[in-house]
Amino acid sequence: MSKIDLFNLTKIYGEPKRKGLLPEGTKAVNSVTMTIPDKSFTVLVGPSGCGKTTLLRMIAGLEQITLGTIKIGDVDVTNLEPGDRGIAMVFQAYALYPHMTVWKNVEFGLANARMPKYEINQRIKEVLKLVGLEEYANRRPANLSGGQRQRVALARAIAKKPEVFLMDEPLSNLDAKLRSEMRTELIQIHKSLSSTFVYVTHDQIEAMTMGDNIVVMDQGLIMQVGSPEEIHDEPANLFVAQFIGDPGMNIIKLPHGGFMGFRPRSIYFTDSDVAIDEKDLILRGKVLAVENHGSEKLYFVDLKIGNIYLKEASRNIKTIGETVEVVVKLNNVYLFDDNERRIYEKDQVKIAYDKLKRS
Ligand SMILES: Nc1ncnc2c1ncn2[C@@H]1O[C@H](COP(=O)(O)OP(=O)(O)O)[C@@H](O)[C@H]1O
Ligand SMILES: [Mg+2]
Repeated sequence: MSKIDLFNLTKIYGEPKRKGLLPEGTKAVNSVTMTIPDKSFTVLVGPSGCGKTTLLRMIAGLEQITLGTIKIGDVDVTNLEPGDRGIAMVFQAYALYPHMTVWKNVEFGLANARMPKYEINQRIKEVLKLVGLEEYANRRPANLSGGQRQRVALARAIAKKPEVFLMDEPLSNLDAKLRSEMRTELIQIHKSLSSTFVYVTHDQIEAMTMGDNIVVMDQGLIMQVGSPEEIHDEPANLFVAQFIGDPGMNIIKLPHGGFMGFRPRSIYFTDSDVAIDEKDLILRGKVLAVENHGSEKLYFVDLKIGNIYLKEASRNIKTIGETVEVVVKLNNVYLFDDNERRIYEKDQVKIAYDKLKRS
């Protein structure tokens, strides 16, 4: 069992003015309470500086914690050394030993494992096979590609058979093609290991494709926890709505208070295939920019009440400067209050929608 429980976990960098007081700096991690489920692929995602690395390093035992407790399985590890927590960590930089072969790099990670030699050899063979590096055991890091190096780092972590893997942006130094290959491989490795993964990234697309449990963070706080579908389809607040998506949700400030949101892919030009009736909200505007996204076009449109994105695959291509009409269906709108929290009540959404329609 390797679920992770965090209670009021807080990190404030800096020294306190007097003993017994808290430091006065900003809260890098602000009273985080959550459970990371056993065997989950949990992704911590949020903009740069939101506290992801700090939170991960606290779980690893590499960062002193200001307040709070951490449990792994049923053990309170708050005051345990990193080596006693049953975790392995993989960083953005590979941290391999350049003078050692791939084999030796993995073996080195097992130096403290106190296993018989043949068992160690067996395990190294297994993990090199798992990460697809069997043929490269005798190479040195300098003679490997970036992706292969990152796989050595991964192999070294896997060889320790930890219950929990902590990974901090491990793919961010790889080029786009390799990154997407490694994503797929990591998902498969997670399946075959049945251990708990905690994976940090600032990239919401990476988060959504890899994680089964997504934790969205902003300014040291947890904004929402859920499956990729929940985070995308049922954002709990304006931050999550705008952060998740490619691009994020369009948000319009309502003249009567609050905010209305709709996704770029769930609004349409009135001359596309969509059926329109008189209940629909139709907004006039002008195309400001067009981007080619393969089979789809991404339009940036000035709707007077705000600039919005619209994504569609229609062959009926619009050009910059063209006057357009956009239809926004009631079923596709989200409502948020002035505190940027989601309003779920359907009748309230309808009232705000009708008000906007009349204004
Ligand atoms: N060693 C440090 N000393 C002081 N402030 C730090 C230190 N490390 C990080 N911070 C601050 O803590 C906040 C969170 O940083 P970090 O955990 O690295 O965020 P992320 O990994 O999400 O980019 C940021 O405001 C950052 O400037
Ligand atoms: Mg970081």
